[in-house]
Parts: sequence; structure tokens; C-alpha cells
Amino acid sequence: MILISQPPKTGLRGEFSPPGDKSMSHRALIFSSLAEGCSELSGLLESEDTLATLKACEQLGALVERKDGKVLVTGTAGELRLSNDGELEMGNSGTAMRLLAGVLAGQPFASRLSGDASLNGRPMGRIVEPLRQMGAIVQPTETGTAPLNISPSAGGLQGIDYVSPVASAQIKSCVLLAGLFASGTTSVTEPRLSRDHTERMLPCFGVVLPNACSVTGGSRLKATNFEVPADISSAVFSLGAAALVADSEIRLTQVGLNPTRDGFVHCLRDMGADVEVKNSFEDAAEPTGDIHLRFNGRLSAIDVPVERVPDMIDELPLLMALAATASGITRIRGAAELRVKESDRIAVMAAGLQKLGVTVSEYPDGIDITGGDVCGGEVESAGDHRCAMSFAVLGLVASSAIRIRSAEYIATSYPGFVDDMNGLGAGLRKEEQA
Ligand code: S3P
Repeated sequence: MILISQPPKTGLRGEFSPPGDKSMSHRALIFSSLAEGCSELSGLLESEDTLATLKACEQLGALVERKDGKVLVTGTAGELRLSNDGELEMGNSGTAMRLLAGVLAGQPFASRLSGDASLNGRPMGRIVEPLRQMGAIVQPTETGTAPLNISPSAGGLQGIDYVSPVASAQIKSCVLLAGLFASGTTSVTEPRLSRDHTERMLPCFGVVLPNACSVTGGSRLKATNFEVPADISSAVFSLGAAALVADSEIRLTQVGLNPTRDGFVHCLRDMGADVEVKNSFEDAAEPTGDIHLRFNGRLSAIDVPVERVPDMIDELPLLMALAATASGITRIRGAAELRVKESDRIAVMAAGLQKLGVTVSEYPDGIDITGGDVCGGEVESAGDHRCAMSFAVLGLVASSAIRIRSAEYIATSYPGFVDDMNGLGAGLRKEEQA
């Protein structure tokens, strides 16, 4: 699908709650499938990625039903079984694959996790290595990618203290989930705290963590009711759009504002946007709030603080789009992880921005972007949902329309993106791709 984005006639205006948080939705589904009893999940994201997890949970024995807009999951009480030939298809979702690999590594049956071409090209050595240290039998391809073949480990898994070389919530969560099926305690240390949804959510399912980032093998999960807040990583596209389009004013309600995820909001402020958080609610497992943004003139370039990168890793493509129109040079470093996401996000954004007349310099771990006028044209999103949505935001202030190729991948995380943006007055259009 080609998505066409061009400047709207008036500012963007409106109020809505973006779809449920993707990271939390994967975890809520997996944890309730492991739990004893029926969990009631509200606000769950139903996108291609989370539906891959939901289907895998059903294949592993969980019963999933929908009632009054909620998803009810009757768990397996830790007694998973695989109903088909052991194949689990994860589509485009790295989170689904890496988290479930941790669960499956500790099971007494064989399984095989595979994904689409993009996911099967992403590095899995980062989880295979610690899982093998725990005694798991996990075989990736020769190049260290999926499909992953997982066999039961005769001696069972042993807990480890894993020091991860990367700040990655997927690695951390994979190891902690395997730790639930291992003997002893399993802990993870990372160079900088990555999103901590696993550590926050396991206690909601009755798991006592001996330390901030560790689990005790054999801990049992109990069903719970969990309310998934709106996804800050989806909310940012409307926020970014309203920060660019003159005369805009929007309010996004009940958005997850976990401090390991809110780096983009801080950067927006640093760039001069008028952003306010109202109705903050800190008492639940995950903090939430309403985000109010009023157009405040042209944004200014910033140097993105390196220590903030993990808190906004998924928002960096959008930040690059905003930087293309900001006054000055925006510098991003310490973001080499972007090269192994759904696409090489540094390369895809750099190529697209250059096609739109923007001056960029690419580095192994980042990019410099000189803000200025952005022209229209056709760009390739390389099957990457977040790059596609970032270019769509930029099209709202380009001198003529931006046409975004492979935009159908937006459905992996935000199926309602076009409707939500058009609800604010963006006027995005879809066209069949030849
Ligand atoms: C995620 C962790 C991040 C993020 C991804 C979701 C998660 O990946 O980019 O979109 O839910 O754990 P890494 O763990 O590879 O940084």
C-alpha cells in the first residue's frame, strides 16, 4: 500500500486515546497464558504483532475469549502444551519471538519459532547466548537468525546472573521468562535500564521478584485484571504532527508514561514544543497521563542526550522526521540498535530524507540532520511501520505530497493510524501499490 500525506488546510485538532501499548499487550497475553485462572485484559492492542502473540498463546493451551471489549485469557497454570506440529509463526514481531523463546526454552517439548523475512533477518544470537548459558537447547540459522529450533533440555535450565551487553527489554524479558522455568534465581543486569514492563507486570500476576530485575525459578503466576494504557510509541505520531502543523492543538488521553519510555516527550520539549502532561496517575503498575500539545512555532534542533536513547528507541525515526524541519542540526548518537530493528532505521530514514531534499550525515550509531525545507516525493519505508508513520507525519509540512511505499506494515503496531490522524484533520490517503 502507498500512503499519501500532504499539508492539511487547517491545524490538527481533537482528543482521543491512542491504541493499547504494544509491549505491555504482548506481556499481558504471555503472562496470563502462564497463569492459573482467568485474566481480564482491557485496552489490549489488537494489531498484527500482538495477534501473533495471542495466536501463539492459544496454540500453547491458553483459552482466549472476548467480552464487552475486554480480552479474557484462561491460563495454563504453567502447564503449556503445543497443539500443532510445534511451529509458531511470529510474523514481524521481534518482541513476540524473543519473549516466547524464553518461555519455550524451559518446556519439556520441542518447538520452532519463525517469522516473516524481516524478522528472520534480525539477530537472535543475543538471546541464544544467555539461554544456552542456562542449559537451553536453542538452534538458530547459521547466521544467528530465526527460525529458532528449541528442544527440551534433559537436565533442565539453571538460573544465571546475566550481564547483557545491550540495554534491551527483549533480551532481559527473554532471560527472566526462562528463569521462571529454571532452578535457583535468574537475574539480568544491563548497561542502562531498558523498558521495565516485565519487572512491573510480573508482580501484578503474583510473582515476587527477589530483586528489581530477577526471578525465582518455579514461581507460579496467578490470573489478574490488567488495564493496558495507550501506547506512547503510537501517541507520538499525533504529537509530532501537531508540533509541526501550524494552529494545531490536541489532547491524547490515558497514555502510558513509564519513565523508561518517555524520552520523546522530553525531546519535544527541548525542541520548543508546548507539551503538558495532565491528570497524571502514578498509583498503578504503570504511570499514565493525558498529553496536551499546542503548536508553538518552528522546532529547534537538539543533540539527543545519549543516556535518553533507550527511553525513546522506537521514537527515533519520528524524531529524525521532525529534525528535518527544525532550525539547526539535530544530532543522534549511541543508537546503533536502530540498525537491527524491523529495518535498518538509520539507513531507511537517511535515504528517505535525502530523497526529500534534506541534508543528512549517517554514522554507525546515529545521524546528523540539518533542518530546512522538505520537498515532496516517493520514499521507501522498507516494510517498517515506524518509518512509514514518521514519513507520513513529515508529509503534513512538505512542499508537496510525500508518497510512502510499503505502508501496509503500519498495521503491525497501529492499524487505526490513518483513521486517528484523519480524525485530527490530517487527510492521509491510501493507494494500492503497483
Ligand atoms: C520492546 C523492546 C525494544 C523495542 C521494541 C519493543 C519490548 O526492543 O524496540 O519495539 O516490548 O520489549 P529491544 O529490546 O530490542 O531494545
